[in-house]
Amino acid sequence: MDFWTVSLRILLFPSALGFCSDLFHSECYTVNGADYRGTQNQTSLDNGKPCLFWNETFQHPYNTLKYPNGEGGLGEHNYCRNPDGDVSPWCYISENEDSVYWKYCDIPTCRMPGNLGCFKDHGNPPPLTGITETSNKQTIQTCISMCRRQRYKFAGLESGFACFCGNNADYRKHGETPSTDCNSVCFGDHTQPCGGDGRIILFDSLVGACGGNYTMDSAVIYSPDFPDTYGTGKACYWTIQVPGATVIHFNFTFFDIKDSRDMVELLDGYTKQVLVRFDGRNHPSHSFNISLDFVILYFFSDRVNQAQGFAVVYQAFKDQAFEKPKTLINQTQTELITQTTNLSINAARSSKILYVITTSPSRPTGHMPGWTVYALTALLILTILAILTKALLHITMKSPRLSSPTSLDSCHRGSTGEIWSIFYKPSTSISIFPKKIKSPHDDRNPLVGE
Ligand SMILES: *[C@@H]1O[C@H](CO)[C@@H](O)[C@H](O)[C@H]1NC(C)=O
Ligand SMILES: *[C@@H]1O[C@H](CO)[C@@H](O)[C@H](O)[C@H]1NC(C)=O
Ligand SMILES: *[C@@H]1O[C@H](CO)[C@@H](O)[C@H](O)[C@H]1NC(C)=O
Ligand SMILES: *[C@@H]1O[C@H](CO)[C@@H](O)[C@H](O)[C@H]1NC(C)=O
Ligand SMILES: *[C@@H]1O[C@H](CO)[C@@H](O)[C@H](O)[C@H]1NC(C)=O
Ligand SMILES: *[C@@H]1O[C@H](CO)[C@@H](O)[C@H](O)[C@H]1NC(C)=O
Ligand SMILES: *[C@@H]1O[C@H](CO)[C@@H](O)[C@H](O)[C@H]1NC(C)=O
Repeated sequence: MDFWTVSLRILLFPSALGFCSDLFHSECYTVNGADYRGTQNQTSLDNGKPCLFWNETFQHPYNTLKYPNGEGGLGEHNYCRNPDGDVSPWCYISENEDSVYWKYCDIPTCRMPGNLGCFKDHGNPPPLTGITETSNKQTIQTCISMCRRQRYKFAGLESGFACFCGNNADYRKHGETPSTDCNSVCFGDHTQPCGGDGRIILFDSLVGACGGNYTMDSAVIYSPDFPDTYGTGKACYWTIQVPGATVIHFNFTFFDIKDSRDMVELLDGYTKQVLVRFDGRNHPSHSFNISLDFVILYFFSDRVNQAQGFAVVYQAFKDQAFEKPKTLINQTQTELITQTTNLSINAARSSKILYVITTSPSRPTGHMPGWTVYALTALLILTILAILTKALLHITMKSPRLSSPTSLDSCHRGSTGEIWSIFYKPSTSISIFPKKIKSPHDDRNPLVGE
């Protein structure tokens, strides 16, 4: 019974992360395509410029002489790459640097699942009609988190600093544009794309959530706060329960955890036994199968060292001859992991933590205990009384110098976004500026020092 009510609830809120089956086979799992290793060799499939070979660009900072060991995916080829932590893969298109000598590549197959694309925004109405927020510290995840907290399905970013939320399932009608139109850097993280002028980059608000329930045949799950780094002190779990599945295939397509006490585990959903554990020292080296229909993915981070995290693709396989979803609960107790992986001593401790989380009915949903509610209510009443008293005093005394400093304060705070946006309003020309130096001394060059 419990199982069916839960899965019904899940079915009512399906995630685009699992439904975009064409995107599911994406060649990129990072938002800026730093992991792109595909073979597109021109800046656009539609009349793009041909790319120069990385083993022939010695007059430019990025070439195979400087990076001979395949760093950043460079090699004896002319495929688009992102070796310098830019917002998107790019390539050199000219020998000399006195005009446009490099360009971003529009690679349709390089879009991380959960990134729904780049769309036109003519403003009335905008593609997402929920709340809006601007910030000079905007990153993709600050926007997604805000939208997720307000229970919106989609988050959109524009011009590097503006965030939009909405449930507008018809966002496609505004017209999709090439990904290169959405290459304005996020003001809070210059390695992430945050839309463009009149161009909004859209995301499923489930990207980077700390936990969730998955029942779809396949989906991609990201570490908390992805594509930002995962925070410290996180403990998140995701249930993957696919009715009728006989085996679930897991592929960690991206894994960046450096601290050996931060970890990712897969547990048997029924017994809560740890099946595999990965951490800073033990990375997943290959994909593997788990012969269960119910698996729990668990992530834990300690108080030090953050990293970007992980992306894991799962795909459930069903035995066609045996498809009877109603009996699945007692049919799968014969669990077996086909690819045995080294388990560590810490595993028992962590699964104990998970057991506490999953068996405590109050923890995950954030129900407050009764006394907290009373205490908060009392506090609220006291605050209101204080405010009323103060207001009454003001009125009766008519004192000009005491004119409500608090409301002034909050007024200023509320409008800083707007004031700020006047100063910082960027133009698209920032992102397609031809003379931007692809310099090895750029402080965001991830290859230096490797
Ligand atoms: C790009 O790759 C295709 C197929 O691999 C090849 O036919 C074409 O000549 C290449 N173009 C350039 C500019 O290298
Ligand atoms: C660069 O690599 C390509 C492909 O292997 C090769 O055809 C070309 O001759 C190389 N260029 C140089 C300068 O070595
Ligand atoms: C997942 O399902 C459990 C109940 O099994 C529920 O407590 C939890 O809130 C759900 N999580 C999400 C993110 O929906
Ligand atoms: C796992 O994902 C990587 C990266 O996308 C891909 O190259 C590889 O083929 C996948 N492995 C399997 C077994 O699907
Ligand atoms: C996982 O199971 C699927 C379906 O049974 C199979 O096609 C695949 O080869 C298996 N992969 C591994 C790594 O065992
Ligand atoms: C599974 O449950 C059904 C009824 O719920 C029962 O008839 C059946 O014997 C059970 N099978 C096993 C293998 O326990
Ligand atoms: C597991 O890993 C530890 C070190 O990380 C190693 O000493 C041990 O031999 C490994 N066990 C197996 C079964 O591979």
